Amino acid sequence: MIGAEERAAMRGLLRSVNDHLGAPMAPAWESAYWAVPRHAFLPSTVWVGDDLAECSRETAPETWLRHAYADTSVVTQINDGGQETDPDDRWASCSASAPSIVFRMLNMLDVRPGQKVLEIGTGTGWNAGLLAHRLGADRVTTVEVDPVLSADASRRLKGLGLEPQVIGGDGAFGDEAGGPYDRVLATCSVRSVPPAWIAQTRPGGVILLPWESPWFCYGLLRLTVDGHGVASGFFSPHSAFMLMRGQRTDLKIYRDVVRDDHEPVESFTRLAPRSVAGDDWAAQFAIGLQLRRVWRAWHENPDVEGVATRLWLATTDAASWAAVDWDGKSPERFTVWQYGPQSLWDTAEAAYDWWRNAGSPGPERFGLTVTPDGTHTPWLDTPDRFVPQLG
Ligand SMILES: C[S@@+](CC[C@H](N)C(=O)[O-])C[C@H]1O[C@@H](n2cnc3c(N)ncnc32)[C@H](O)[C@@H]1O
Repeated sequence: MIGAEERAAMRGLLRSVNDHLGAPMAPAWESAYWAVPRHAFLPSTVWVGDDLAECSRETAPETWLRHAYADTSVVTQINDGGQETDPDDRWASCSASAPSIVFRMLNMLDVRPGQKVLEIGTGTGWNAGLLAHRLGADRVTTVEVDPVLSADASRRLKGLGLEPQVIGGDGAFGDEAGGPYDRVLATCSVRSVPPAWIAQTRPGGVILLPWESPWFCYGLLRLTVDGHGVASGFFSPHSAFMLMRGQRTDLKIYRDVVRDDHEPVESFTRLAPRSVAGDDWAAQFAIGLQLRRVWRAWHENPDVEGVATRLWLATTDAASWAAVDWDGKSPERFTVWQYGPQSLWDTAEAAYDWWRNAGSPGPERFGLTVTPDGTHTPWLDTPDRFVPQLG
């Protein structure tokens, strides 16, 4: 049952989603939107804002409903469900994605009646519910790695009379028994495309996934699978999703990378670290495509004399690292420290220069081809124009 308050909130959200997408939702999706209300999929405690402040339906029902119908993601689980009480140590492990990205992805998925869809990352179950309403529950399977989330989603879906198949397990393996699928939709990001998704997609079928590199989490990738098990397609500049469990980098700069006996090589650069790891998302995306094994982290005001900001870079195997320091004064002079077999800052500069020389293309001009042996080949504009792989 949708009450008057919820109905008003749903109407407001529908308007903002339509504004965001630049066109009214297709009637079939709009009817799914009304039949599968988002608030019915949110737990009574959610976490909101950059500081992941707790918001409870019991104590603050109006605020909770406002978040349920804002066009933003709502965190529905923190720390993989662990009991974290220290607010400084909270991180999101599940969320109901922002409604406009949910409908953007559903549009991009381009489903037709009769098609079978596999969703990876059930989360709250909302997306699976929308798909089940649109296609019929028997056409939809969804996989969730977290058993508590998967049981909760299943229960909520049943509560609305929707019973897609909800599988508890690692979505990297897809669902071999239920395949082949016409569409595979991931709602957690990946750094490499699991081979099972390609193998379980029918020739001509589509895989849509949020992309990330250890450098930067950004972009949707829409792959079409051919009759030889090759998947290829373009990126588009949207979204940042949580990374699929199983592909996480658990790197801490002092614990895992930098050792007291390391003697880094010192040099200077005029390229600002903010140019490669700042607000320019197109630059970061392109660098991430070239440095697919390089991780980076900012350290503001490190406890080092004369250093205002430090950018850390490290290979995901922790063999090489670099730090680039800014003293807070000189606009064009940065101190570089590099250690290990790969001079990582030099590599990041080369990746940045390549992108600038290519005309600073945005994510939508890049694509990726994945062959059956698992090789990932990123390209610019056409599949034969390879993006350099530098690290
Ligand atoms: C952004 S949420 C998904 C949102 C969801 N589609 C919805 O409608 O609420 C990402 C989900 O992916 C799940 N996930 C992460 N790694 C996974 C894996 N290896 N297999 C399946 N699910 C995974 C997370 O537990 C989380 O629930």
